[in-house]
Amino acid sequence: MVILDLFRSVLDEAPVAIVVTDAVVERPGPTILYANTAFGRLTGRAPCDVIGLTPRFMHGRDTRRAVLDQFAIALKACERFHGFLTNYRADGSRYVVEIDCRPLTDTSGRLTNFIAFEREVVRRRGRPAVGASGRFEPVEESHDSLTTILPGMNLFKS
Ligand SMILES: Cc1cc2nc3c(=O)[nH]c(=O)nc-3n(C[C@H](O)[C@H](O)[C@H](O)COP(=O)(O)O)c2cc1C
Repeated sequence: MVILDLFRSVLDEAPVAIVVTDAVVERPGPTILYANTAFGRLTGRAPCDVIGLTPRFMHGRDTRRAVLDQFAIALKACERFHGFLTNYRADGSRYVVEIDCRPLTDTSGRLTNFIAFEREVVRRRGRPAVGASGRFEPVEESHDSLTTILPGMNLFKS
């Protein structure tokens, strides 16, 4: 098994939804190059069916433009984006997704791709804690925020 196949098999089975795009931030980019099984479950589409699409296919009426604008600013600045968006599945059902999107660079520091870790969240009941992270909780078992989990996976420098 070559190293790329090894990485792919780890990503394919990861419990968190993972999507990788190219680095083209101007429309119609970015284009999806890879999506794992959990991303298929999240979006209600087969991972192979989203290859070649822009992640905008998940947008809909309640997807907040203000958050997308922050997203676009971060991508253009080659910076990380962490936020919450309302998205839509293939069957039209709506969900709130927590997204941690990071730029990937080659050894010379040139931007090559973006990778996003995503999971469905629901609005926390009761008095919301301060900030967007406090207002939502994951629908699945782990209540750690993505931002807390990812550094522990030692995938990134910070
Ligand atoms: C790796 C990656 C994953 C993304 N995932 C989502 C997503 O799950 N949902 C979403 O609404 N937008 C997602 N986006 C953001 C949109 O593709 C787009 O970049 C955003 O709408 C800002 O561009 P615009 O101002 O041209 O719409 C993702 C972008 C990247 C690079």
